[in-house]
Amino acid sequence: MKTIKKVAFGNDHAAAEVRNTVKEYLISIGYEIEDFGYEGNGNCDYPDYAVKVADAVLHGKAEKGVLICGTGIGMCIAANKVKGIIAAPCWDEDTAVLAAQHNRADILCLGSRKATVSELCRRIKIWLETSFEARHEKRIIKIKEIEKAQCKA
Ligand code: RB5
Repeated sequence: MKTIKKVAFGNDHAAAEVRNTVKEYLISIGYEIEDFGYEGNGNCDYPDYAVKVADAVLHGKAEKGVLICGTGIGMCIAANKVKGIIAAPCWDEDTAVLAAQHNRADILCLGSRKATVSELCRRIKIWLETSFEARHEKRIIKIKEIEKAQCKA
C-alpha cells in the first residue's frame, strides 16, 4: 500500500541535467515534490543540498527524500550526518528494494553518472513503493542507539 505522498528532492551539478526528468516522472505517478535541488550551470557542493533534503524529511515536510549526485556516494555520506536520518546508496533495482525493506531508508541516494535517467526513475519508484519489513526493526533500533551514544557529549 502506497502511503508516501511528499518527496523532498535534491541534486548537485552532476545531476542538473536529469533533475527535471526525474521530478516530472515522480509527479506523473502521483507524488508531490519539495524541490531543494541545484538548477544552475556551474559547479556546486553536494552537502549543501543533502542537508536541505535531510532536514525536510527530519522535520516532516516530506515523508521521504531523494538525492542525486554523480555517484550517490557524497550525498549519502552527507545526509547520514544529520541525526535521525537514514540515507541509503542505491545502484540497482535490488538495492532500491532492500533500502526500503531492510534499512527503512528515509532518503535514497543515486548516481546520475552511473545510471540512465530511466533507471534512476525506476529505482526511485520501486523504493517508494516498497514497505519496511518489521523483522528488521531490531537492527534499526541498534543504529539509533549508536547515534544516541555519540550524542552524549
Ligand atoms: C561532483 O563532481 C561529484 O563529486 C559529486 O556529484 C558526487 O559524485 C560526489 O560523491
